[in-house]
Amino acid sequence: MTRSGFCGFKLIVVFASAVVISTLLAFAPSGAAPPSPVKDIAVWNIPAFDALPDDENGRLARYGRTIIAATYAHIGPAAVNPAARYAGNNLACTNCHLRGGLKKFALPLVTASADYPAYSARTNASISIFDRVNQCLMRSMNGRPMAEQDRPMQAILAYLRVLSTNIPVGGTIIGAGAGAMPELDRAADPGRGAAIYARTCADCHRPDGSGVRRNVALPEMGYAVPPLWGQDSFNTGAGTARLITLANFVHDNMPNGTSWVAPTLVPEDAWDVAAFVLSQPRPQLAGIDRDFPNLLLKPVDAGYPPYADSFSLEQHRYGPFAPIRAEITRLKEVRGEVPNPNIR
Ligand code: HEC
Ligand code: HEC
Repeated sequence: MTRSGFCGFKLIVVFASAVVISTLLAFAPSGAAPPSPVKDIAVWNIPAFDALPDDENGRLARYGRTIIAATYAHIGPAAVNPAARYAGNNLACTNCHLRGGLKKFALPLVTASADYPAYSARTNASISIFDRVNQCLMRSMNGRPMAEQDRPMQAILAYLRVLSTNIPVGGTIIGAGAGAMPELDRAADPGRGAAIYARTCADCHRPDGSGVRRNVALPEMGYAVPPLWGQDSFNTGAGTARLITLANFVHDNMPNGTSWVAPTLVPEDAWDVAAFVLSQPRPQLAGIDRDFPNLLLKPVDAGYPPYADSFSLEQHRYGPFAPIRAEITRLKEVRGEVPNPNIR
């Protein structure tokens, strides 16, 4: 008891000092030292899954962990039970949320359960963690939504709740998202990226981007290396289909095994190779022209119209983004909001 009380107190102190330090850093001149690693350890305080009790909740959370790791087998398009085929591709959640959502700057899932319900600019409404998982199912996994009471959904939500056990509601962590490396002041160049792809990615993801299946005859066994484009990849509405997200993810995590502490690619190469990947064909999501009821809240790198500004589709897809951001800031001041003309 005393011991856990002490740890809880320590967690709050460390968390509070992390907030203070990151606030200070926000005002510090660029080139200031990054936050010392001591701050994040307490925040990434994940309970040991194997120590969860063997009760209904423990079993559900462990089942959720299995679904995140082997999504294709449980809810993929070739899953044994046809009624359970929710995902439209044979990816696993953990192909993007690396180590089951526990890796920094690899789209971690550590705070997700504590972050929702949250406002979503994409729908202009407050969405629950359940809705958010379904967005990944429909976009990243190019599939269809699950009902909240479906057991695989309940399992995923139980897994996410365990990850967030020690995260204060609305709490932030160091290592969230995919990182934010400096942007280029030119458009990212798919042509230059093609050469980088051939040199640094093609051995694993294959020259045609189709990845490596564990067993060519059994799609329900998923991939040893996931595809990056083509019919079995994420669709055009996915977060990973946006250049800023993908370039940062690649910079901090690829070639697989890379950590944000020691990136393999220089930022320029990460931008260009990501541009090459996104210039390749992938499944189209119908109806995404109705995303973002207020177009001023649409991410600058969303690769599909309509937009609030008059920059080209090309510039929204490949940058440079700073001029678009400046224009959006201006429009926010003069217009407040720009309704999406496709929504009536
Ligand atoms: C050593 C083999 C290897 C190399 C080289 C490699 N990757 Fe990966 N990549 C993987 C594996 C394996 C995963 C899935 C990781 C997991 O499931 O834990 C992955 C996942 C990804 C993902 C997320 C999953 C998806 O399907 O979208 C992207 C994006 C990606 N890699 C891009 C790249 C790019 C771009 C390069 C070149 C700069 C690259 N990778 C180089 C093995 C590799
Ligand atoms: C192709 C890559 C990819 C796959 C596969 C994928 N996701 Fe995601 N996911 C993303 C991206 C990108 C985001 C947005 C991250 C951000 O905004 O920082 C995201 C966000 C999320 C979030 C919200 C996290 C937060 O804290 O806001 C949840 C929850 C989530 N995904 C769950 C899942 C689950 C469960 C699966 C499998 C059924 C899955 N994802 C499959 C790429 C993927």
